[in-house]
Amino acid sequence: MERTFVMVKPDGVERRLVGEIIRRFENRGLRLVGLRLLTPSREIAEAHYAVHRERPFFGELVDFVTSGPVVAMAWEGNQAISLVRTMMGALKPELALPGTIRGDYTTDIQTNLVHGSDAPETAGQEIALWFGADGLTN
Ligand code: TYD
Ligand code: MG
Repeated sequence: MERTFVMVKPDGVERRLVGEIIRRFENRGLRLVGLRLLTPSREIAEAHYAVHRERPFFGELVDFVTSGPVVAMAWEGNQAISLVRTMMGALKPELALPGTIRGDYTTDIQTNLVHGSDAPETAGQEIALWFGADGLTN
């Protein structure tokens, strides 16, 4: 069993896609083990995307992810990290296949609806960052 951090970004909440995104992961057989609705502070957004700090899109990315409420979640299941990444679809819009979340609902590289951890180390760090004080109750 693996745990991963997933975030529905502000565009996904604004577009009423939270239920659709949760439904896909539940239908697949993943188990929801943590969920928060919050508008991220710049501090948490910058820490979350720290790996991209030197990239030209960093400022805009932090502006975007702090622009409204997000849904921060932890999901558990067999190979949950890579399974969620597959179901999210690729970052490059032209490579995000139909049937994936990005491939079905966006053509934009930034307003791409969803984040999912990319490795066990980042999954652990991100769950601690977003659920830190209270931790996961399940
Ligand atoms: P990245 O971790 O490379 O992609 P993913 O979300 O698939 O793990 O990038 C993080 C976010 O940064 C990405 O979801 C959107 C944003 N981003 C841009 O806005 N422009 C870019 O050129 C890149 C590479 C990322
Ligand atoms: Mg990433």
